[in-house]
Amino acid sequence: MASSSTTKTIAFMGASGGIGLGALTRALGAGHKCIALCRTPSKLADKFPSDKYPNLRVVQGNAHDSAAVAQCLVDGTTPVDGTTPVDVVVSTIGGVLKLSCMTLDDPHVCEKGMAALLEAVSLARRQHPLTARQWRPRINVVSTCGISPAARDVPILFVPMYKLMLRVPHADKIAMESLLTNGAGDRNRGYTYSIVRPSFLVDEPQPQREIRVGLGDAPAVGYVISRDDAGRWIYENLLDGGKAGEEGRRYENMIATITW
Ligand SMILES: NC(=O)c1ccc[n+]([C@@H]2O[C@H](COP(=O)([O-])OP(=O)(O)OC[C@H]3O[C@@H](n4cnc5c(N)ncnc54)[C@H](OP(=O)(O)O)[C@@H]3O)[C@@H](O)[C@H]2O)c1
Repeated sequence: MASSSTTKTIAFMGASGGIGLGALTRALGAGHKCIALCRTPSKLADKFPSDKYPNLRVVQGNAHDSAAVAQCLVDGTTPVDGTTPVDVVVSTIGGVLKLSCMTLDDPHVCEKGMAALLEAVSLARRQHPLTARQWRPRINVVSTCGISPAARDVPILFVPMYKLMLRVPHADKIAMESLLTNGAGDRNRGYTYSIVRPSFLVDEPQPQREIRVGLGDAPAVGYVISRDDAGRWIYENLLDGGKAGEEGRRYENMIATITW
């Protein structure tokens, strides 16, 4: 079901900045139909004016509100059996780190976002039964390295910082991943997923640098990657028609660590 050509319909949660913005920018540039949930729509409307980007629909709302998220999972503007469900969801939401007390402004931001997203998938199915039977969206979510129980996935110098200072955001990411992977085991849920765990994020893009990728229990260990380059990697490997089609299947129901 969903879009039949190489043009995809993609829902974004958390694309007003950082990694999400990097992925959204490229998806819009390639002509994909994008629906972005945003607490402050002007953040996206200013960057992507509607006359230049008719392929973007911005929905005002909170990623913890399943009804708002569900509005982004169906593109009501191009009817196919009444509605067109999205092919792919990209969630890059995250909280603001409060280093002074080693916590986040919302310590459960990602866990709550994933609970709402999975509820929204069920809601969209119930609301649009004609498209529900074959709908199997891919949910791509950004998590973090430093939480792998299988192997050390950060350089040894970073271990104290990751263990001590990032305990709260890491617990949140573990809870988020658990909801996603447990839900995928339920046949009635009907989605596939990819979890992307970037190394420490920096702002300065370096598109010429190689991005190393590790899968599952064999993570790529590195210090940093930029937000924009991580967004580019997600676009090229999980969203774009070419690589994300054939080659991208290697990331289906997998965890990928990415780093320079
Ligand atoms: N910092 C690191 O070194 C590091 C390393 C690995 C992984 N990560 C994780 O990678 C992810 C992406 O990081 P980033 O730096 O690209 O993120 P970012 O620039 O902080 O952007 C976060 C996005 O999430 C949105 N958001 C947060 N809560 C929301 C809510 N309840 N409803 C709707 N939108 C919400 C924000 O929207 P607003 O514009 O409305 O605020 C913003 O668009 C995060 O989960 C982060 O924790 C970080």
